[in-house]
Amino acid sequence: MLEVRNLSKTFVIHILGGKSIEGFRGVSFRLYPGEFLGLTGRSGSGKSSVLKCIYGTYLPASGEVWFASERLGRVDLARAGEQAVLRVRDGEMGYVSQFLRVIPRIAAADVVAEPLLRAGSEAGAARRQAAALLERLRIPARLHDAYPSTFSGGEQQRINIARAVIRKPRLLLLDEPTASLDRESQETVIGILRELKEKGTSMIGIFHDRAALEAIADNVLELANGSMEHGRP
Ligand SMILES: Nc1ncnc2c1ncn2[C@@H]1O[C@H](COP(=O)(O)OP(=O)(O)OP(=O)(O)O)[C@@H](O)[C@H]1O
Ligand SMILES: [Mg+2]
Repeated sequence: MLEVRNLSKTFVIHILGGKSIEGFRGVSFRLYPGEFLGLTGRSGSGKSSVLKCIYGTYLPASGEVWFASERLGRVDLARAGEQAVLRVRDGEMGYVSQFLRVIPRIAAADVVAEPLLRAGSEAGAARRQAAALLERLRIPARLHDAYPSTFSGGEQQRINIARAVIRKPRLLLLDEPTASLDRESQETVIGILRELKEKGTSMIGIFHDRAALEAIADNVLELANGSMEHGRP
């Protein structure tokens, strides 16, 4: 599904007179259909930056990100250009960010249903599917028509997760998706991720919680000293 080769990221800080800061370097791995790779390492080791380079938020300094796209064939996302990255994001690659991205003034159920509408689903059916997923994530029906910008941190996180999984992407990038959730909601999220995995979705996930990581990861890659080591969870 994904082959990352010798990926590196450096940040050039202009207010520091062009000084460069290393995000991470020399990251290589392969990810097979239905496989879950956990990313670990201390704070600041580059975990979030690796996901952002794959999702196309950051342009890597060097390296390749080969994705087996259904629509575009094998494509190096590090070089593909914005149009190709946007097409892959639309339906094939999902991302749950570490910090919440809330869309203002759109009802929660519509935020979650939107990816289905873009894929051509009928409006009523898309909203019903969104509502069912929200119920499963314990977002009460009275909140479905409210704006997520007023929600609690954990509620916003569950909206983000619902939106990222509703179209069953082939590749899912998860940056601490359960960080603000209670145990029960965490377990629900892990259950949803397991079901996606069984249907073939490949995932790369960062979890602060060791138990959550062990519950789902097949392999673990540890970022250390800007570089990496492979291992089992
Ligand atoms: N946009 C940016 N501009 C400048 N430096 C950045 C940027 N993003 C990340 N960095 C730097 O790159 C390094 C890695 O950051 P990153 O957020 O990837 O770490 P992380 O492993 O996800 O940490 P945490 O566990 O705290 O989330 C840090 O030193 C950080 O300051
Ligand atoms: Mg991070």
